[in-house]
Amino acid sequence: MNETIETILNHRSIRKFKDTPLTNEQINLIIEAAQQASTSSYMMAYSIIGVTDKEKKRALSEVSGQPYVYDNGHLFVFCADLNRHTIKADQNDYEQMLPNLENSEHFLVSAIDAALASQNAALAAESLGLGICYIGSLRNDIEKVDEILSLPKHVIPLFGMVMGVPAQEPDKKPRLPKKAIYFENEYQNHESELDEFDEAITEYYKSRQSNQRTDSWTDQMLRRFKKPMRMDVTDHVQRKGYNKR
Ligand SMILES: Cc1cc2nc3c(=O)[nH]c(=O)nc-3n(C[C@H](O)[C@H](O)[C@H](O)COP(=O)(O)O)c2cc1C
Repeated sequence: MNETIETILNHRSIRKFKDTPLTNEQINLIIEAAQQASTSSYMMAYSIIGVTDKEKKRALSEVSGQPYVYDNGHLFVFCADLNRHTIKADQNDYEQMLPNLENSEHFLVSAIDAALASQNAALAAESLGLGICYIGSLRNDIEKVDEILSLPKHVIPLFGMVMGVPAQEPDKKPRLPKKAIYFENEYQNHESELDEFDEAITEYYKSRQSNQRTDSWTDQMLRRFKKPMRMDVTDHVQRKGYNKR
């Protein structure tokens, strides 16, 4: 197995870091790796904000409810960003271009671009011996994050990523069986694979090194969808000029 595949297959989220900030060299390399990801039609419709201001970090940690958003080597926030494109449209035919720029297609494009860049950043970091954890819980209060980071119209915070020297070695978390996510030629029913996976994941939660619990994947998903979640995101996204049609 080559080192790239080894790095990919060795991934686990890290939520406890040594008190060692990332060096500028590491940050630059990680951002360069992020930028080299493929990008829809060369749009590069994302921005990355490195948060070094302690007050802002504290405030973002409070939004997320997760201490490791403050205690880490570096915090990045990945944003969908059509601001640059809006500026260009504004210098051209704004009226014609805006409805197109603000449609669902370009909402998807910018979210996909940001996600691809972020995963390149994650892999670059992991290849350097650093650990990472994505932080979707910034969307617990998306309006507050928008305010903390002074985001203009057509820029929305999608997720954070904490990074640093790992101070824990969590177990690798099992994934769905390949049969449940890879199909040939057409979509296939895979309910029995999900039942098998529930058995495996129940065993994982029972026997892992820390935070042992009784749980299954199905129970997690049911808990997730039973209670309305972040219902304000739709309004925020539309107010910022995304996903309007
Ligand atoms: C977009 C995204 C958002 C996430 N948000 C959070 C988060 O807010 N807090 C957290 O502790 N983990 C978060 N995670 C990490 C997932 O919980 C984790 O990747 C998943 O449980 C699989 O575990 P593993 O990464 O250790 O393999 C997020 C992951 C992704 C991809």
